[in-house]
Amino acid sequence: MKAHMITYGCQMNEYDTHTVQSQLVSLGADMVHSVDEADFVLINTCAIRGRPVNKVRSLLGDLRKLKTRRPIVVGMMGCLAQLQEGQDMAEEYGVDVLIGPGSLLEIGRVLENNEKFWALNFRDELHDHIPPPPPQGTLQAHLTIMRGCDHHCTYCIVPQTRGPQVSRHPDSILRELDTLLAAGVQEVTLLGQNVNAYGFDQGARMAGLPTFADLLRLVGRTGIRRVKFTTSHPMNFTEDVAMAMADTPAICEFIHLPMQSGSNRVLRRMAREYTREQYLQHIADIRKHLPNAVLSTDVIVGFPGETEEDFQQTLDLYDEVGYDQAFMFIYSARPGTPSHKHFEDLPKELKTERLGRLVELQKQWSQRRNAALVGSAQEVLLRGDAVTEGFLEGHTRGNHPVVVPKALGADAAGVYTARIEHATPHMMYGKLLDAHGQELPELPKLTPEAAAMTNPLQMA
Ligand code: SAH
Ligand code: SF4
Ligand code: F3S
Repeated sequence: MKAHMITYGCQMNEYDTHTVQSQLVSLGADMVHSVDEADFVLINTCAIRGRPVNKVRSLLGDLRKLKTRRPIVVGMMGCLAQLQEGQDMAEEYGVDVLIGPGSLLEIGRVLENNEKFWALNFRDELHDHIPPPPPQGTLQAHLTIMRGCDHHCTYCIVPQTRGPQVSRHPDSILRELDTLLAAGVQEVTLLGQNVNAYGFDQGARMAGLPTFADLLRLVGRTGIRRVKFTTSHPMNFTEDVAMAMADTPAICEFIHLPMQSGSNRVLRRMAREYTREQYLQHIADIRKHLPNAVLSTDVIVGFPGETEEDFQQTLDLYDEVGYDQAFMFIYSARPGTPSHKHFEDLPKELKTERLGRLVELQKQWSQRRNAALVGSAQEVLLRGDAVTEGFLEGHTRGNHPVVVPKALGADAAGVYTARIEHATPHMMYGKLLDAHGQELPELPKLTPEAAAMTNPLQMA
């Protein structure tokens, strides 16, 4: 079987795609790079907002047309697959295979007899499953430390798609990390919907699992170079997490702490279970232990009932914190969530206008924060070639995207030191340094003529 996967959604979905892909390969399937080459197309879906749902719908429409021309098995997995909305869509578009986020390991059934099947249970074996390591030389990897979510934020569909929270045993996490280290991974991102609640679900408490702060210390001592984590929910954040970050050198000084809104009234309606004041206290704790912490957040603009004054409080909170980075979303009413059922949506134009103002403010903060790093030396993980010929791209420990010209002895993916020369709100430009902080000689750039010689298409 030739299988092709298309992934929407967050890092958890990317991680799940990796798990399913490796499962398929171990059972004899070939992974191919396009729908055209495939006889099994599997879409890993997201249901967080209307837009990813619509994308899946249009893709399913295309695949249904394709099905009339040649035999092809179509599958849907991920968050949307777990919802009635997704199941209705699957019926409508003649989807053959439906797999929820809790039953990934059942994917093998598709190779057995090409039967149509739906697998939507939350199965325990997933929690101890260790996917095969990525290819040798992979620099970055994700590692799921928990699944599901026990919160009930009124706008959010995730508790319905990914079920209740289950923390993974540290032994299983560390065993997976060993396989990543053996493959050469330099940076691992620990994943969970609410990593600060790690160890607090009932099963975890019964098994005596450590707190998230202690898990960070455990992971940080394994020899991995960089550790990041997401998502850190403010409600369960403790000062000990900031302390663990400060006392464990491998943990990157980067924290994504979604505030969602700066207004207590809106936070209450969202059922976020913290106040603006508590949130700011966490920021103060982080700054106390990590004066150079890079801060990032998520914000929902235009939650039902958000007044101009509420929104102003979000803008004020932005200015109080001065985020380096932010993900800003327009509220999207998700069927089946409490806010969809009980509150009336605000007009689209109003939401769009507020988003525009917030994006502008964030741009200014990102510019200011990034500019402050010009002249500093940063550890950069360079993934590989940038779009511009002769450059490498990657990111800092603080998750700033970086571009640097290739240099002697530093012309391929790897972890290096770079001096930041120039910064825009969304990108940093640097020069690679040697171990003594001296600039490495840049590689000679190809002249346009020489570049054309190496590119036969351009010659023609
Ligand atoms: N578990 C994480 C969030 C996961 S979802 C946390 O609680 O922080 C990622 C982000 O999507 C959320 O932080 C939120 O900002 C956004 N989001 C979730 N549901 C949304 C909705 N219905 N409309 C708009 N944005 C939403
Ligand atoms: Fe959704 Fe809230 Fe859970 Fe995050 S904590 S996944 S926003 S319900
Ligand atoms: Fe992630 Fe989307 Fe599910 S954001 S948890 S894939 S709904």
